Amino acid sequence: MKPPGPAARASVLPVADRGGTVPEDAVVRDCLRRTPPRLPPWLGYDAVGSELFEQITELPTYYLTRVERGLLERHSPEIAELLACGRIAELGSGSAKKTRLLLESCVRLRATTYLPIDVDRGMLRSSGAALCAELDRLEVTGLWGRYEAGLDWLRTHPGEPLAVAFLGSSFGNATRGERDALLGEIARTLGPGEGFLVSADMDKDREALETCYNDPAGHSAFADFRLNYLTQLNRRYGSAFVLDDFVPEACYDADTSTVEGRLRARADRTVPVPGLGLTLRIPRGHFLNVGYSVKFSVQRLTREVGAHGFSLQAQWRDSETPYGIFLFRRRET
Ligand SMILES: C[S@@+](CC[C@H](N)C(=O)[O-])C[C@H]1O[C@@H](n2cnc3c(N)ncnc32)[C@H](O)[C@@H]1O
Repeated sequence: MKPPGPAARASVLPVADRGGTVPEDAVVRDCLRRTPPRLPPWLGYDAVGSELFEQITELPTYYLTRVERGLLERHSPEIAELLACGRIAELGSGSAKKTRLLLESCVRLRATTYLPIDVDRGMLRSSGAALCAELDRLEVTGLWGRYEAGLDWLRTHPGEPLAVAFLGSSFGNATRGERDALLGEIARTLGPGEGFLVSADMDKDREALETCYNDPAGHSAFADFRLNYLTQLNRRYGSAFVLDDFVPEACYDADTSTVEGRLRARADRTVPVPGLGLTLRIPRGHFLNVGYSVKFSVQRLTREVGAHGFSLQAQWRDSETPYGIFLFRRRET
């Protein structure tokens, strides 16, 4: 029998409405009630936000994608061997352009099922189709929803040995509490001996980080990406934020080793958000948070992940830019 063609090997399943996860509206309401008010990372990724993120990855000053791609180009064969799995799930896969390097090495070893989890259905469709067109022995089932729902789906659909990947240093986009909750979910999804592959940006000086997370002259990808969060709030919840009322910026906090994406109010603003039953009051000079990027040391990462039953097995670090990909192994319980 003829093997199935690329189109038949790529599909997308909605997992967003499975029980057990906090509803989206409740998450956004809770984030907006914090001080400073925060917009959860996933809210910014509609088709426009995803396209803007792709533009960010191409900015000459945004080293993260370039460095991670280099590590995957050099080390994917070794990573694939160590992962030794027939299924790879990825949290926040986006365009999966870098993941393709790893998947190419995986399918050389064995037929592989890739299970990207992302809130952007369009990205899941296009990346799955592109990967299957390029790689034989690959099947892609995109899980359309938030991380927790995707991991829940994996737990209820056992199969070949599994690995969970979290690339793009997106692990650092979550707060400490969110990271702990997510690591707990990942640990519950993986069996003893299975791998968790996570990339992390390491701490650096303020100038390097603020240069990376702000637009260089002549570009506006970061600014547009941050302002798109307000567009999403207006569209989903009927608020009337005026984008020009806010200045997008990124600031590094050395005490917490975190770069914070902000929208700073040019003047006092009171904005009702009818769909969430609340009103935001933002005084002049105050800001909304539109993204954390926590910078790690190896010790901090190993401690956080290790607390959830994982041991560090291998790491691949860039020789010039402090950035790494880390393979943790789920311990026997
Ligand atoms: C910073 S981009 C990284 C994309 C890709 N991994 C890379 O390295 O280029 C984050 C991706 O994660 C997705 N995302 C963010 N938060 C999410 C969540 N809670 N659940 C599912 N997807 C999420 C976004 O839609 C986006 O595609």
